[in-house]
Amino acid sequence: MSNPIKVLVTGAAGQIAYSLLYPIAKGDVFGKDQPIILVLLDIGPMMPVLDGVVMELQDCALPLLREVIPTDKEEVGFKDLDVAILVGSMPRRDGMERKDLLKANVAIFKAQGSALDKYAKKTVKVLVVGNPANTNCLIAAKSAPTIPKENFSCLTRLDHNRARSQVAMRCGLSADNVKNVIIWGNHSSTQYPDVHHCKVNIKGKDEAAFDVVKDDAWLKGDFISTVQLRGAAVIKARKLSSAMSAAKAICDHMRDIWTGTADGEFISMGVYSSGNSYGVPDDLIYSFPVTIKDKTWKIVDGLTINEFSRAKMDATASELVEEKDTSVEFLSA
Ligand SMILES: NC(=O)c1ccc[n+]([C@@H]2O[C@H](COP(=O)([O-])OP(=O)(O)OC[C@H]3O[C@@H](n4cnc5c(N)ncnc54)[C@H](O)[C@@H]3O)[C@@H](O)[C@H]2O)c1
Ligand SMILES: *[C@@H]1O[C@H](CO)[C@@H](O)[C@H](O)[C@H]1NC(C)=O
Ligand SMILES: *[C@@H]1O[C@H](CO)[C@@H](O)[C@H](O)[C@H]1NC(C)=O
Repeated sequence: MSNPIKVLVTGAAGQIAYSLLYPIAKGDVFGKDQPIILVLLDIGPMMPVLDGVVMELQDCALPLLREVIPTDKEEVGFKDLDVAILVGSMPRRDGMERKDLLKANVAIFKAQGSALDKYAKKTVKVLVVGNPANTNCLIAAKSAPTIPKENFSCLTRLDHNRARSQVAMRCGLSADNVKNVIIWGNHSSTQYPDVHHCKVNIKGKDEAAFDVVKDDAWLKGDFISTVQLRGAAVIKARKLSSAMSAAKAICDHMRDIWTGTADGEFISMGVYSSGNSYGVPDDLIYSFPVTIKDKTWKIVDGLTINEFSRAKMDATASELVEEKDTSVEFLSA
């Protein structure tokens, strides 16, 4: 058994965390022989609720869980971290202006980025989930100048999994037979779920999704809007936002960072853009197809992009540029 790693989950009293803490603590993400210290951060008023979560984690009697540290203090929450999963953010309240919401989140992620810089290990892997995830991630990364920007990513794996599953269901197959869907851009309704490089396994052979589905109108129409609007559809039905599937996606994302992606497969995550990859403006957190090896991601290069894809990739990029410009103003104010 190796030394325990220290894993922070923020928003730890919330509903995503409630589905997330168990699989992490039982070894689904970092491996069955990796002991874990869980640090649970939430805001002061939620501490009584968090106590209940701690009791339940204790009652799970999990062999890998060495310690649980509930806190509302940054200097405790961010100390010596190996991993930080930032789920908590300011939710939209009725009548709240978009700008005010963004301003509140910039304040949270500026403070948490600074706390990572000050207290966490320099090798910490940071995953931002709380919305607006891409921009919150960018603000946290900018506020932690001594941690490499490559160690920050945001969650678009839920969108990726949604796309994968939609194609699989259409083909009457299980999701593991579908690989290499791509989510480009922002985690919002302008994201572009792209299946031009997606492969479907038919009797042991990988075939292009377009050839297997044989319904271009669906792949270029309803498929895209279903994935883009899935979050809203879940809220409408459940009266709560996606939590079980978000937690599963967080586990997939972090496990891939920890142990790497399979040969011949890529996954989607929001990462720091530099070097004008696929014509995406630099200095954004934008969702790209990536492979991961030795805890280092690399954008998959050389994929052909047609005009249909280009327009959609640009639209979601310009949304992010606009949001970045506003947040950077708040950051320096
Ligand atoms: N990127 C994605 O794919 C994705 C998917 C689903 C949900 N989300 C986002 O994840 C976030 C959490 O969702 P949820 O359903 O768990 O919400 P929730 O409201 O149930 O829980 C959020 C928790 O965060 C806490 N919190 C708020 N500000 C905090 C701060 N500054 N520090 C620490 N904790 C803080 C709250 O007190 C609350 O306990 C939301 O922003 C949601 O929009 C993202
Ligand atoms: C980008 O996506 C996030 C997450 O859904 C959303 O909150 C934000 O408003 C989007 N950005 C813009 C500029 O629309
Ligand atoms: C994080 O930074 C370290 C250097 O501190 C580097 O070795 C590692 O590859 C980075 N991780 C990711 C996911 O890029």
